[in-house]
Amino acid sequence: MREQWANSGRDLHLVVAPTAVRASIEQGLRDAIQSGRLTPGTLLPPSRSLSQDLGVARNTVAEVYAQLSAEGWLVARQGSGTRVAALIGSIPPVPPAPEATTNPLPYDLRPGQADVSTFPRQAWLASARRAMATAPAAAFGYGDPQGRPELRQAVASYLARARGVRANADTVVICSGFHQALWLLGRVLREQGHRQVAAEAFGHQSYRTLLEDSGLQVAPVEVDDAGGVPPSHARWGAVLLTPAHQFPLGFALTPERRTEFVRWARNTSGVIIEDDYDAEFRYDRRAVGAMQALAPEHIVYAGTASKTLAPGLRLGWLVLPERLFEPFVAAREQITGQASVIDQLTLADFIASGAYDRHVRRSRLAYARRRRRFVEEVSRHLPSGRLVGLAAGLHSVLELPSGLDEAEAVRRAKVHGVAVARLDDYAAAPGQRRPSLVVGWAAPPAHTFTSAVRRLTTSLTPDRRTPPAR
Ligand SMILES: Cc1ncc(COP(=O)(O)O)c(C=O)c1O
Repeated sequence: MREQWANSGRDLHLVVAPTAVRASIEQGLRDAIQSGRLTPGTLLPPSRSLSQDLGVARNTVAEVYAQLSAEGWLVARQGSGTRVAALIGSIPPVPPAPEATTNPLPYDLRPGQADVSTFPRQAWLASARRAMATAPAAAFGYGDPQGRPELRQAVASYLARARGVRANADTVVICSGFHQALWLLGRVLREQGHRQVAAEAFGHQSYRTLLEDSGLQVAPVEVDDAGGVPPSHARWGAVLLTPAHQFPLGFALTPERRTEFVRWARNTSGVIIEDDYDAEFRYDRRAVGAMQALAPEHIVYAGTASKTLAPGLRLGWLVLPERLFEPFVAAREQITGQASVIDQLTLADFIASGAYDRHVRRSRLAYARRRRRFVEEVSRHLPSGRLVGLAAGLHSVLELPSGLDEAEAVRRAKVHGVAVARLDDYAAAPGQRRPSLVVGWAAPPAHTFTSAVRRLTTSLTPDRRTPPAR
């Protein structure tokens, strides 16, 4: 074993094992980065000088750098050398005890998040440049409460093509994400005299709260394996559904149920709010189109860029039935918090130029790989757990091995440095289904994904309580 100071202008302490030269350099660098000894941004010696210092072939070092770059530990840039990647140094060590655990935990498997590290910066910049070069001066004024016409047009064409939505630019309204859209819809419904609406019995608590803030009572819509259960004649002003991919259970609303909900809407003049939040990410090749085309006069279609691009953009869109259009735009006009016109124009170009489709396709492949890895890890290391709702989206429900309750499972995962959510966090009333976790597979950086899942499965295995080695 040779211990070396590779000094090539920058000291680097590495242990080289004579029988496994490449592997030991690789592991030595990985350990140094993981322990924080090499901090993010640190410039590594050029492969030529490091190989001379270590007395190994230059190719060996080049291969180590290439491997660690592929794993995400290093970033190599033409002309500026190889550096330690930004994310890695920020991963804190696994906490020794639950009490000492602070948020955020090192491994984030909570649902509701996208992989923002793959945000298409170059293509977005190119769209921004084109948008800025061609925007009329008037675009930089206060703007239309309905949103920029370029973006409404691009969204309408995309939705018609990709989701089967019946839309044109005049029926689309741009919002700062679905949260804002729902908040405004709640106000409009209340102003129209409605007192009660309904939402699926599983979903974000924040959506129920947004509706309650408008003075509406929120009744639960039962959910089973065929999606939401349609009411026969309940007099709700509106019902909030996730038809393409029930959040968080993962089922698609069956065609029969879709028809029944539409019948309910027609019989009671009710409104269906279709939250189509992650429909682009379907893995079983089964086309599940939007429900809106069945009854555009009763269905508010809602889409968002939060899953396909990034939640930080705060961009979403509604396609509204005629009777809600004017009241909604009037409500929209009363609030500030409009999405920046520059971002709107950029997204319009991004969609119209085909960059949006390309990014969605790339993301779909990447998420499909993570999903496959997740399924393999669970079936290999936690065979007593059952996965539900895997056909689409960026998360899945993991039914816990018998004897393990949700609070205990979250506590154990936390000890292993993993953040996950309980299914009951999303339930209108607790204990309606088998104890489960909701596991998102989009948030961790690619190089920590397998570790994150392995830690989770280990933590849930009845007789294993210590964190696994990396
Ligand atoms: C079920 C569901 N609907 C909609 C959204 C999008 O919300 P927003 O557009 O406000 O980011 C999310 C995002 O996490 C979601 O989980």
